[in-house]
Amino acid sequence: TKSEGVTINFITPEGDKKTIIANKGESIMDISHTHDDIELECACEGSLACSTCHVIVDPEYYKKLEEPTDEENDMLDLAFGLTETSRLGCQIVMEKDLDGITVTLPSATRNVQLKGSKLS
Ligand code: FES
Repeated sequence: TKSEGVTINFITPEGDKKTIIANKGESIMDISHTHDDIELECACEGSLACSTCHVIVDPEYYKKLEEPTDEENDMLDLAFGLTETSRLGCQIVMEKDLDGITVTLPSATRNVQLKGSKLS
């Protein structure tokens, strides 16, 4: 139902704003999978082994997110164009209090993918 929807605004690398009504419990990766106009690579499918799902969260909403895990921070360190409000899109799960969030898709990603290996 409509009341279960959570609004998320994407700013594309071209500067276009796209507003999507997502479902609670969907991650930003899930949303990009079901919306062709949201181009977020998510090369490792959410297993915290790449940095291609990097998004920049608006500061007001960044504060509402759960703290990133060490694993997420390790991958974020490899992201191209890291900012103070950068997160990995596969780790942001839409909840009611994120209603209205805006995330910016970086203009470039560095495809660092560590298949089956852990950072040590
Ligand atoms: Fe690889 Fe998010 S999709 S870390």
